[in-house]
Amino acid sequence: MVLVAPSLLASNFLRLEEECKMINDSQADWLHLDVMDGRFVPNISFGLPVIAQVRTATTKICDVHLMIEEPERYASDFKKAGADRLIIHLEACRHLHSNIQQIKSLGMAAGVALNPATPVELLSDILQDLDTVLIMSVNPGFGGQEFIPHTFQKIRTLRRMIHDRGLKTLIEIDGGVTTENATPIIHAGADVLVAGSTVFHSKDPKATIHTLKYSD
Ligand code: DX5
Ligand code: ZN
Repeated sequence: MVLVAPSLLASNFLRLEEECKMINDSQADWLHLDVMDGRFVPNISFGLPVIAQVRTATTKICDVHLMIEEPERYASDFKKAGADRLIIHLEACRHLHSNIQQIKSLGMAAGVALNPATPVELLSDILQDLDTVLIMSVNPGFGGQEFIPHTFQKIRTLRRMIHDRGLKTLIEIDGGVTTENATPIIHAGADVLVAGSTVFHSKDPKATIHTLKYSD
């Protein structure tokens, strides 16, 4: 069954504790936390102190998506703040292999995110070292954008690469995921759905999480 990771970016920041409790009571598997530095992406979100506080309010696995330059400078700080999984962008790393080893040596699951124009084939020599590949299905930086249809092709190609090598790497899809496109995304080969606006802007977020979880 697909894993669901609501993205806190779309939540009401004035009510973070209640939003975390709602997620705790839901069928969400992970809590997705988007960190933006205003350099790698044209937006600034939240950082270490917020994540450290959210950690005290959530019972879910903290899936931290770093949209920042030189993420290796902060990996150990995000571990201390409570990250269970750390995702860094291929486009932001000069020494991806070493950065992934660093994340693992800190005791976190390691993932690489790819922008829409970055081919999945570029992961060919590192796939075996990754717990997760996050395919961005919108340009990173903002919630509430539309899913880019070419993503389906990327998911299928990556699924084949993982299958052919007998790996267990998870495929995570982030951006524009809705209750309508969840099923085709899962059929293409996704393991994890990140959903921000679809969950937090819905009338009944817990029911929406349930719908995503049981999409097939
Ligand atoms: C975008 C972030 C996403 C974002 C998704 O840069 O990485 O995680 O929160 O938001 P929605 O689901 O609204 O597209
Ligand atoms: Zn994200």
